[in-house]
Amino acid sequence: MNQAMDQERVTQKYPTIERKPLTLTINGEKIGPIEVPITMLMIDFLHEYLDLTGTHFGCGQGVCHACTVMVLHDDGSKSESRTCVFGAHYFSGKNIVTIEGHAKEQEGKLVLTPIQQAFIDNFSFQCGYCAPGFVAGATVFLDQLNRTPVKRAHLEKAIEDALNDHICRCTGYVRYYEAIRDVALATPGCVID
Ligand code: FES
Ligand code: FES
Repeated sequence: MNQAMDQERVTQKYPTIERKPLTLTINGEKIGPIEVPITMLMIDFLHEYLDLTGTHFGCGQGVCHACTVMVLHDDGSKSESRTCVFGAHYFSGKNIVTIEGHAKEQEGKLVLTPIQQAFIDNFSFQCGYCAPGFVAGATVFLDQLNRTPVKRAHLEKAIEDALNDHICRCTGYVRYYEAIRDVALATPGCVID
């Protein structure tokens, strides 16, 4: 990510807007301090400064959750956050993962996470517009299941409750939920009898 070049580009685009320094971690990489407009939304910061365009802008009103990223906390837990309603500076000092940071390169190959692979195996998405948000949401849900397992009989409802806010206009959710169920059942410690 060429911050110097991108900062210059954004300064030219928004020459009169008040800025302040922002520092945070994105996909394991420390970003900043970098001068960012105080009113800039996080999704615009990701797109305009860092060229991380995999986070999708859907409703822009905090409803569809297409713009969701994952936040990593110091205690090892994860949570979701929308980037269309929170400013870039809201994430100051935080450690986030965008859709570009989920898969990891191993021996020259990109290895998908179990959730990403399950979404592909189950044909969970069609246009894919909602997929980055579902990956974040499902990954956070699995992290919570690891900490607080649910009974097998309650798994379907737990998935629905956890992903309920994520809107998909194409597939009707069933294949997303089936994929998440498959990963939960295959992950030791997530589901109890
Ligand atoms: S684009 Fe952020 S919630 Fe819809
Ligand atoms: S796959 Fe198109 S909106 Fe979900």
